[in-house]
Amino acid sequence: MRYYKKPTIDYLEGLPAKKQIVSGDEKALVIYDILLSEIPEFKKWLSQFENCHAVMAGEALKSIKTFPEHFSAISDKIPEVSKKALKIVAVGGGSIGDFAGFFASVYKRGVQLVHLPTTWLAAIDSAHGGKNALNSTIAKNQIGTFYFPEQVIICKSILSHLPEDQVLSGFGEIIKMAMIAGDPIWSSLPTKESISVDKLWSIIPDIVDQKYKVVAEDPFEESSIRQILNLGHTIGHVLEKRFDLPHGVAVAQGLHFTLDWSYEKKYLVKLNYDTMKDYLSSYFVCIKEKLSEHLTKEAALKLLLTDKKLDLDKKINFVFLKDIGEPKVEAVNVVNIISKLYQHSWIT
Ligand SMILES: NC(=O)c1ccc[n+]([C@@H]2O[C@H](COP(=O)([O-])OP(=O)(O)OC[C@H]3O[C@@H](n4cnc5c(N)ncnc54)[C@H](O)[C@@H]3O)[C@@H](O)[C@H]2O)c1
Ligand SMILES: [Zn+2]
Repeated sequence: MRYYKKPTIDYLEGLPAKKQIVSGDEKALVIYDILLSEIPEFKKWLSQFENCHAVMAGEALKSIKTFPEHFSAISDKIPEVSKKALKIVAVGGGSIGDFAGFFASVYKRGVQLVHLPTTWLAAIDSAHGGKNALNSTIAKNQIGTFYFPEQVIICKSILSHLPEDQVLSGFGEIIKMAMIAGDPIWSSLPTKESISVDKLWSIIPDIVDQKYKVVAEDPFEESSIRQILNLGHTIGHVLEKRFDLPHGVAVAQGLHFTLDWSYEKKYLVKLNYDTMKDYLSSYFVCIKEKLSEHLTKEAALKLLLTDKKLDLDKKINFVFLKDIGEPKVEAVNVVNIISKLYQHSWIT
């Protein structure tokens, strides 16, 4: 039986003590982003754990082709550890979370899982929703499970090492969540000039709570409630795949398209449209002209169909906005999306 319980969420200044993760006879197996070992604080922290598995972040880690090798390497390290005693601790960004979460969900039919997200994107989004996924040889996130961690530990010090482009990518998801949530989250967002680790740190608990509000109503995506979290993602995924953009950056471009279309459909009044467009543009200039030079109708259609595994006559639940804080899910034919992309000069 599938089971949902909201994880415990800890916000810590530094990395957690080992006893905050495992107690008594429990044994941790830490799956971590190898790049983090360049951070002295992390290296020292990691040395307390006997069982660790280093991986390289990125889409290649999520490949179903290499999963069996990782599986053997990890299980060889823990032959004596019982199912009940084992805790998989995923330390890294969204790619590590997806990989380690998937591993935890299938190893011995499921062992305990703790997420320690190290990118803003993972800290506000991917570590929380219980979704794990590997990539098939043709498309992203095609093999997956719903499997919730029991604990998510968010550490400020490790997040402060992130380079600027990764901070920006996380901010794309933060803007998305604020557009879904409305005030007071929307008005708490920082201006580009005032963005800092401290400021981000102060707003993430509210953003995370907002995600759980939606997830708790529909943890296994059985109704359409959770689909509002896909705001900006239908087109975001197309751009992410075609141009290899960081996830949150691609989502931000998808938000531009969503706002334009929502305004055209008269769902959004001009004042709210302008407010959201201006704020989004201050972080993410709309680059549709640049992208359209390299994106044809045919390519966009193919990406859209593979992503959603749809036939041409099928509809996609597209998330529009009616107001700041008021998403509206509407079934739209794939062909309509493509012609709207064309009309708005996103594709040629
Ligand atoms: N499961 C979900 O609900 C969900 C949601 C959104 C995205 N995702 C997945 O997440 C992935 C993208 O997430 P991401 O951007 O966090 O990816 P990532 O894990 O690829 O990390 C991005 C980069 O940041 C580096 N990095 C990580 N932590 C760092 C730190 N503290 N300091 C310096 N560098 C650091 C990594 O080495 C990597 O180069 C995609 O695979 C996407 O499909 C999953
Ligand atoms: Zn996303």
